[in-house]
Amino acid sequence: MEKQGARRRRVVLVLPPFQGHITPMLQLGAILHSKGFTITVAHAEFNAPDSSKHPEFFFLPLPANLSDYDNSFWNLLEVITAINVHCKAPLQRYLVQMMEKPEPQDQVCCIIYDTIMYFTDAVANHLKLPSIVLCTTCASNILAWHANPRLQAEGYIPLQESLSNELVPELHPLRFKDLPLDASSEVVMQFTADLCNIRSSAAVVWNTIEFLEHSVLSQLQQQYQIPIFSIGPLHKITPASTTSLLKEDTNCLAWLDKQVLNSVIYVSMGSLAIMDYKELVETAWGLANSDQPFLWVVRPGLVKGSDQWVELFPKGFKEIVGKRGQIVTWAPQKEVLAHDAVGGFWSHCGWNSTLESICEGVPMICRPSFADQKVNARYLTHIWRVGLEIEDVMDSGGIERAIRRLMVEKEGEEMRQRAIDMGQQIKSCVQKGGSSYNTLNDLEEFILSQSS
Ligand code: UDX
Repeated sequence: MEKQGARRRRVVLVLPPFQGHITPMLQLGAILHSKGFTITVAHAEFNAPDSSKHPEFFFLPLPANLSDYDNSFWNLLEVITAINVHCKAPLQRYLVQMMEKPEPQDQVCCIIYDTIMYFTDAVANHLKLPSIVLCTTCASNILAWHANPRLQAEGYIPLQESLSNELVPELHPLRFKDLPLDASSEVVMQFTADLCNIRSSAAVVWNTIEFLEHSVLSQLQQQYQIPIFSIGPLHKITPASTTSLLKEDTNCLAWLDKQVLNSVIYVSMGSLAIMDYKELVETAWGLANSDQPFLWVVRPGLVKGSDQWVELFPKGFKEIVGKRGQIVTWAPQKEVLAHDAVGGFWSHCGWNSTLESICEGVPMICRPSFADQKVNARYLTHIWRVGLEIEDVMDSGGIERAIRRLMVEKEGEEMRQRAIDMGQQIKSCVQKGGSSYNTLNDLEEFILSQSS
């Protein structure tokens, strides 16, 4: 229900130019808008969200001077650093102009920024505005980041190969090779410090669920000493709308309608992970030999150095696709995972994909690529036990075996049952009286209290 006080308050959201971060921030914006807040979305001009799909928001493009980069760079730390340098002055200028206007709807009551848009804190401080951090990865990932300086001081980082399968002290169940960053360069250590520093933020909002990460959230609560609001999974609370940067190919839904219950393996590596040509070929043959129907997302740029992916498929594979597969450049993923025909998700384990899969009771084959994906995969396989991991070299035989284990064998059936139970538990958290439902109401009150 819309609150009297909220309609006249503006919340400014500051989001980075990456799909996995844009989606949860826009979802949070939609939720706050439904509660009566006016929403301004400040974003880098590069990889911008489509404003025409969100007429309810005001959009503020911030020049990010990223013209020197192209999609092949993906040196993420460099890009993030550049954005934090270049977006600061434009955001500050815009907010000053807005606050000079007398209209009540222009009163900014709070700025919510993604963890990696940390320049926002200085802007908020300068303007004496309260700020809140949104964490779009799991809490366990941030706890692992916090451990970086300690692990470096104890000589564990940079990672020694001989230790990679050992458990990290005080970070159960993570092994050294599951750490989101295992290098100790100055850039990495600075990034870790920037990411973990909540500076003068008034609160932290998490796209996670209390029961999933209870103990980790308690540890972080002790460190932060400011309120933590776990209100996930945001996609189950928000009014449905697409936040995709790429066009979704919805034809695959009609194809799914023709498939047998739980028979299809859905394959997607998210928006950033890449593979080389050899991996593409092994994946193709692994899918072909598994005998399961498959829906595979091969987005532009997935294969290093080529956008002409159709040309890359091995001879004979296209015929197999014709018989029992579908290949799309971008899928309506949430609808795909909710479809009865989908029985497994082979994923890079980005946090959004992880939440979307377990919410629909779909067990996973985990093939993490970098950063938090390795942490998510470890939790999926060893704590929640709803996934199995393909480790080391990816060959077609290993892929075929993994698909069979998940889709056909008893082990996979047990994982599916656990995922279904987990999905039901999560759904009850977002319903009236559930933990995320209640915490979201607390967050609303908290935001209103910041400007009263
Ligand atoms: C990035 C990081 O890689 C990830 O580790 C981190 O947790 C968030 O930021 P990304 O790689 O894009 O995200 O993965 P993920 O978090 O899973 O987000 C991908 C989003 O794109 C999901 O919401 C998914 O539903 C959507 N998607 C993906 C589609 O809509 N269609 C597709 O075909 C593929």
